[in-house]
Amino acid sequence: MANSQSVIAAFTELAARYEQTVDRELRQFWGITYQDAIARVLERVDIARAHTVLDVATGRGVIPVALIQHPAAPRRVVGVDITSAMLRGASAAVASQDPDRRISLVCGSGMQMPFAASAFDTAICALGVHHMRADVLLEEMRRVLRPGGQLVIIDVALANLFQTLPGRLLLRGLAQFYGRREGTARFEAEMEAVGNMLTPSQWRDLLVAAGFQDILLTIVPATRPWYPPGILASALSPEKQE
Ligand SMILES: C[S@@+](CC[C@H](N)C(=O)[O-])C[C@H]1O[C@@H](n2cnc3c(N)ncnc32)[C@H](O)[C@@H]1O
Repeated sequence: MANSQSVIAAFTELAARYEQTVDRELRQFWGITYQDAIARVLERVDIARAHTVLDVATGRGVIPVALIQHPAAPRRVVGVDITSAMLRGASAAVASQDPDRRISLVCGSGMQMPFAASAFDTAICALGVHHMRADVLLEEMRRVLRPGGQLVIIDVALANLFQTLPGRLLLRGLAQFYGRREGTARFEAEMEAVGNMLTPSQWRDLLVAAGFQDILLTIVPATRPWYPPGILASALSPEKQE
């Protein structure tokens, strides 16, 4: 389901052409640019309360850099990612665009993060959840958020068309076709990700099960019925942690 080795291989292969590739994919699937997708995430962030921010699956650091350029920039932004090749791109961006050294980058898994409980006001994950076990990731995000802290996620969702068994098989076929076009490692990572994709109602159930409140889910419609739609989710961690 969530095999780190194939994910690392895929994003190591993709790192140098990451932005162009994801931009092409999002235009194709959702009819929006990569920058639009990032802007939608940032619009959801309650920036006035986001003093310390965690960006899970930060990739090449686009979100941390955008955050510190905001007029109400957070004091501290931590980006964590499992693929060191992606983090090398992030380091280069941070070196040139973070003169106050607000951003730090950590290599590690979002499913087991090296951060103390309640360490962050805000936790973001953009386009990374489908490479992980969403239930494990959400538990971790809740653990590291302070009570009342905000979670913001954007990811691919499972289209209704694919909820049946024949639908899942069709989706695997499409992922196979698509992943092959992008190279062997990406092929494996995308095939594994198919099993992790959730419908919008499964997203809501999982957020509720992880204890999140004030859940707001917005669908980013797909351009074709057989493409995965997007899901933009925000929620608050409970005021009282059990
Ligand atoms: C599609 S990219 C998204 C990058 C960035 N969030 C953005 O919006 O540009 C997915 C990222 O998830 C990372 N990733 C996948 N599984 C991970 C895990 N278990 N822990 C941390 N990062 C992970 C990959 O290395 C990759 O950088």
